[in-house]
Amino acid sequence: MSLWGGRFLDESNKKFKIFNSSLHFDYILAKEDIFASIAWSKSLVEAGVLTQEEQKKIESALVFLKKEIYNNPKKVLESDYEDIHSWIEANLIKKIGELGKKLHTGRSRNDQITTDLKLWCKKKIFVLLDSIINLQKNFVFVAESNYDAIMPGYTHLQRAQPITFSYWCLAYIQMLKRDASRLKDILKRLDVSPLGSGALSGTAWNINRTKLAISMGFNSATNNALDSVSDRDYVIELLSASSISMTHLSRFSEDLIFFNSNEANFVELSDSITSGSSLMPQKKNPDALEIIRSKCGRVHGALVSILVVLKSLPLSYNKDLQEDKESLFDSLKTWNDSLSIATLILKNIKLNRLSCRKAAEKSYSNATEIADYLVKKGMTFREAHNVSGQLVLRAINEKKSLNNLDLSVFQQYSTLITDDIYENITLESCLEKRSSKGGVALNEIRKQIIKEKIRLNIL
Ligand code: ARG
Repeated sequence: MSLWGGRFLDESNKKFKIFNSSLHFDYILAKEDIFASIAWSKSLVEAGVLTQEEQKKIESALVFLKKEIYNNPKKVLESDYEDIHSWIEANLIKKIGELGKKLHTGRSRNDQITTDLKLWCKKKIFVLLDSIINLQKNFVFVAESNYDAIMPGYTHLQRAQPITFSYWCLAYIQMLKRDASRLKDILKRLDVSPLGSGALSGTAWNINRTKLAISMGFNSATNNALDSVSDRDYVIELLSASSISMTHLSRFSEDLIFFNSNEANFVELSDSITSGSSLMPQKKNPDALEIIRSKCGRVHGALVSILVVLKSLPLSYNKDLQEDKESLFDSLKTWNDSLSIATLILKNIKLNRLSCRKAAEKSYSNATEIADYLVKKGMTFREAHNVSGQLVLRAINEKKSLNNLDLSVFQQYSTLITDDIYENITLESCLEKRSSKGGVALNEIRKQIIKEKIRLNIL
């Protein structure tokens, strides 16, 4: 059953009908479609197309349909309509007869679909923002309870300089802050109503589009109908924000998979989010993290897919645009699921403070401190770097940490070195010196944690 039978003599090919239909995925826009249709019906009263009474009848039939769909979503899927707009219109007509046929006056599915999708995206943005906040709160809790747990920080996956577990948590809070700000930014541009753009050149009826936009909770109405029905920038932007944030979550997963490995043994993941091996009884695999890491791939794929769909697409609406939805729905769900699984992982994480500290101690991660120490005593940094490097080599050969080298050994490399070298190269002193903004000093970390707690309303 289609909305456009008049011009056609032959029936649609069955295979084509299935291929062409979007109902099996756009049915999730039913609520938004009904919401926008009710708003549209009110505009039609002002345009003189509907009487107040007719509008009321249409509105209550639409509300009734919404309840029906809510009670039995399968009802929609069991039918063979082309899309959710057709389903709703046809069922409205079934309910109230001829009057239902007036609703589509002055609008097109082209402005209808992008209005529905924007309304849906707006709701999802708020859900995602909530999930980001929730994850950030859990990062703060973990940071707070492990604020002074020293571990190695890495570059090139080589132990580089000591940091704390809390500092690692705070880094992810920053990434998530940017993810949230991207969403808020997208919302500003997205919050413009396309309804009343018609097929591509505007509506011929006297509709106050700004009033209509505001009545649906949009900030304003679009400025050019040709652009309005063609624009899917908001889909690209949302998939781009999802891709960036999933990249963050994937790096978080990769970090934790390594921290949880037998080799590092920095953290222990809870039984509730790990799984065993069917063959090897000793195994406890970080499946939840591995799945987040791989889900990132499908979200990146969705971004590439919408970019390719839109590239070279002539203005204005083309059926290609139907291909924007499935991967968007899937990606935003994947992103939100990944945020909540990451939260679950953090909630149950146990830190092995001793292994973390031992790894930091073993790593010559205080070599920079020796160089800085020499600089303070008057040597140039490049020279000091060289001396410190030679000392690391000596310590490696003696199978000792830098702190365990004798003073006489230190002095073979530079007479500037005195007894105070030892207090300057403890892990604690490595941290404490980095007290400028954003550094790893414990005082800085404490300040950051308090700042975040205030921002997240959990102080
Ligand atoms: N299912 C379509 C989509 O998702 C709805 C708009 C159809 N418009 C049209 N002129 N065929 O884009």
